[in-house]
Formats: sequence, C-alpha cells, structure tokens
Amino acid sequence: MPRRSVHKAPFISFEGGEGAGKTTQVELLRQRLESLNLPVLVVREPGTTRLGEQVRDIIKSQSNNVPAADALLFMAARAQLMHDVIVPELNNGTTVIGDRFSDSTIAYQGYGGNLNLDRLRHANELATNEVAPDLTILLDVTPETGLGRRDAEDDSTGETQRRFEELPMRFHRSVRRGYRELANREPSRWIEIDAARNPNEVAEDVWHHVSEFFDLN
Ligand code: TMP
Repeated sequence: MPRRSVHKAPFISFEGGEGAGKTTQVELLRQRLESLNLPVLVVREPGTTRLGEQVRDIIKSQSNNVPAADALLFMAARAQLMHDVIVPELNNGTTVIGDRFSDSTIAYQGYGGNLNLDRLRHANELATNEVAPDLTILLDVTPETGLGRRDAEDDSTGETQRRFEELPMRFHRSVRRGYRELANREPSRWIEIDAARNPNEVAEDVWHHVSEFFDLN
C-alpha cells in the first residue's frame, strides 16, 4: 500500500554488508528519481560534512579502535549530518538517499562488535533527534559473495570499508544476521532485496518497491 513520507520529502536509506552494491544502487535510484524531476540529494556516512570527512579519516587510519569508540565517532558524524544537511534538505522538499545510516551502527558495532543494542539505539536517537528514514532498503548478500566482489564499483572507493572488510568471517556473518533481524522486526520500514543478482535486476526490484511505497507511478 502506498505510504506518504512523514517528512516533506522521502528519506530513504540503503544498508547492507560489504560488497552488497549499495553505492551502485543508490546512484541508479538517484537517476531514476531525477528523471521524474524530483530533487534528490545523496549523503554518505561517514562523510558529507567537514566533521563527517574528518571522522572518515580517523576511522580509516586507526585500526585498533574498540567498537564503542567507532560507534561514537559514527554517531558524531551522523548528528552533524542530520542537523546540517538531512533535516534542512527534507524540509526543502528534497528527497534524501542515505548510503548507510543509523542501522549500520546497530549491525556493525552492535551485532558485529557485540555492543549492547539498546544502548546503541538510544545513542542513535540522540544523534538523529529521532528522525528516521521512511524506507530502508537492505541489499542482502552472503559475506562470501560480498567480499568476493573485489572489483565492484560500489566498494572500490570505500576506504573505510577495508578496515571492516579485514575482520573475520564470523564478524560479517553477525552483521548479516543483524540486518536480517532488524528487517524482520520492522517490516513497515524495511524492504529486503536479494542483491546477489545482476545490478539491473536489483535496480528494478528497488524501483518497484520505492515507487510503490511513495506512490510515484
Ligand atoms: P562503505 O559505506 O563505503 O561500505 O564504508 C563504510 C564502512 O564503515 C563499512 O565497512 C561499514 C562501516 N560502518 C560502520 O561500521 N558503522 C557505521 O555506523 C557506518 C555508517 C559505517
């Protein structure tokens, strides 16, 4: 059933493990929305703001951070991005697409890093002022498939991603399990998509769900 955004414009996030193809799908969705003359902004976490870019540098250069330190750094970047960019753009009527958002911290530092999930949820509420995406698209692939996509356009530019990519397979399995649990618990917000297929098929599936969700056809 079509749903209206609770904001002035749709707020959509993409989530998934390493090599899921998020960045490719974010770009394809951006193009499709723009072809309907809708204003769209893509934001990437961590990044986009000055603080976000500095956090990206820290995360990338410090491989011995404990999960709580990583979580708080990601949260700091998120708080600034939310205040400076996401909320004003949504209020302007711009559709915002997040290449990762709060759920990444729950999946990676919570399920992957064994931090308490409720504490992370509370910290996320602080960072986002409880503004959540209307729709979150989980691009689901097994860690074997995702990590095997060395050449994927998606992740060839993800410098911080390498830090997490190097963690053991059990970490990646926990991240995947976490994402799937999150999606199952909140089906009104999440759409789970099989991202092991070719990018065009995945993009069609993404568009089917997004256009139906926001009644764009
Ligand atoms: P990517 O978005 O290019 O894949 O790189 C971001 C990396 O940072 C990826 O390995 C996931 C990780 N990450 C977390 O561990 N927690 C977070 O909250 C966010 C936003 C990213």
